[in-house]
Amino acid sequence: MLDGRDIFVKHCMSCHLADNNSAPQLANQAQWSWRVKAGVDFLVNATIMGPEINDELRQEALDAGNERYRVDALQTVVTTDDDQRSRGCAVKRGGCDECTDAEIIAVVKYMVQAAASDNTNYSLW
Ligand code: HEC
Repeated sequence: MLDGRDIFVKHCMSCHLADNNSAPQLANQAQWSWRVKAGVDFLVNATIMGPEINDELRQEALDAGNERYRVDALQTVVTTDDDQRSRGCAVKRGGCDECTDAEIIAVVKYMVQAAASDNTNYSLW
């Protein structure tokens, strides 16, 4: 299994460490702090499902008590503020079809941790 950083460099950096798009940038706290409030589990789901993680699917996940990932924090990101509303990654599995779920979890943790500051506890897992 590749570690989170290797996957990031190989598959995510082209959007998440580039100044020319709407993807939250590596280590940019302002772009990550409100996303992190939803929990790492949500962000993992948002990466795996991509833009399909719409409201309906979130509700389904909540109703089902989602066995795979803890999703009880989902509602915290369902806001009416379009600028602060998680829509899922622009591409399913972050564009890495061959990545296993464990690898997706590792890279999302890497990205979340990179946005943490000294006085922020992002160790939500
Ligand atoms: C083609 C560009 C692109 C690539 C490649 C990409 N992303 Fe993203 N990602 C985006 C964009 C754009 C957003 C912001 C979507 C939004 O909030 O509207 C995003 C958002 C996210 C989010 C936050 C989701 C949310 O709901 O707020 C996570 C987590 C994420 N990406 C993980 C990854 C991972 C992990 C990889 C690599 C395996 C990856 N992305 C590769 C474009 C990309």
